[in-house]
Amino acid sequence: MSSKETRIGEIIAEHIHREGSLLPILNDVQAELGCVDAAAEAIIADRLNLSRAEVHGVVSFYHDYKPEADPRPVVQICRAEACKARGVEALVGAAATAAGERVKIETVYCLGLCSAGPAARTGDDLHIRLDEAAIAKLVENA
Ligand code: FES
Repeated sequence: MSSKETRIGEIIAEHIHREGSLLPILNDVQAELGCVDAAAEAIIADRLNLSRAEVHGVVSFYHDYKPEADPRPVVQICRAEACKARGVEALVGAAATAAGERVKIETVYCLGLCSAGPAARTGDDLHIRLDEAAIAKLVENA
């Protein structure tokens, strides 16, 4: 058994006795391994007595679960209506230019900061009232 399989097994053991254990398991696998790939889905399905299709359905529904690890830092930019009204679309190009291939830019739809947009997230940090210079600096520092 690989160290990855062992760690997935440990994560499952930490949560399996909880009601609704699938999402906490998926969250921890994503956080620790950087992805929930097909092998992880198979292990989780087996241990939770679910079909692989059931687990894959949940994994593919939530955008936070990635099918393969991407080591690049991520900047999530909100492009939902309130942030659009506050000019986020004009910032996307600046973010992409600053990112190049080094940083992954993801679009999300609402970070719960609608009155203070344009908004973005890096890791656990939220950023508000962004302009072109601020988002470029944010991406460069990611
Ligand atoms: S619309 Fe952007 S944070 Fe809600």
